[in-house]
Amino acid sequence: MTPEELAERALAWYAVHGRDLPWRRTRDPYAILVSEIMLQQTQVDRVIERWTAWLERWPTAGDLAAAPRADVISAWQGLGYNRRAVSLHEAARQLAEHGIPQDQAGWRALPGVGPYTAAAVCALALDHDVIPLDVNVLRILERSLGVAELEPPAGRAHDLTQGLFDLGATICLARIPRCDVCPLGDLCPSRGQRYEPLRKQSRFEGSRRQARSRLLDQLREAPLATGAFDPALAALLIKDGLAEQIDGQLRLPR
Ligand code: ADE
Repeated sequence: MTPEELAERALAWYAVHGRDLPWRRTRDPYAILVSEIMLQQTQVDRVIERWTAWLERWPTAGDLAAAPRADVISAWQGLGYNRRAVSLHEAARQLAEHGIPQDQAGWRALPGVGPYTAAAVCALALDHDVIPLDVNVLRILERSLGVAELEPPAGRAHDLTQGLFDLGATICLARIPRCDVCPLGDLCPSRGQRYEPLRKQSRFEGSRRQARSRLLDQLREAPLATGAFDPALAALLIKDGLAEQIDGQLRLPR
């Protein structure tokens, strides 16, 4: 299969089978940045309502930038990796102050924005001819083309990227791909192959990450007095900008 065939098939499939997700109806770079950061650790189904509520509360980067840090951390509850709330807030401040970056390097300069997210915002919001490579997209490219890159047809990066996300989520599954219903199936050199179970994610239950996350959940309710928290865990939250300690009391940052 050639890259051109892949793009053509994936685009035709997306036009019919693509999921109607709310962040696909906007081209606003801030809104798309929020969706991409939420989608990095949370299932699409859950992100739909959280993203919608977030954009209602803070419709622009300026609105988010003006919010107290504590409110942003509170609103992130349940979305995982709380540090992302802090970096998203900081990124919003930079967007509000300096405007929207026009290239990937400009996006990568923002806190919490790596090569994937920068490429995603450029493709999905700015219509740049680039395909962001997340694990799902990479899996499709490796199986179908045997390479880890794809140049989109000019002006089609948005739909091609979204189509690859959907193929990865519903057809080209990690272990048992559904080649019989795949639009690339008849051309794919990996058709019919099965794959070993992926390495399990390290356990969250009982982990230090869980302990930190519990302490932060407590702070979302109310500040804690000295003696009411583990200072070593508190130090980790403080280091990440998720808490501050004033007169011994631990609380969300102002
Ligand atoms: N995962 C990452 N970005 C996504 C998007 N825009 N739609 C669906 N899943 C995604």
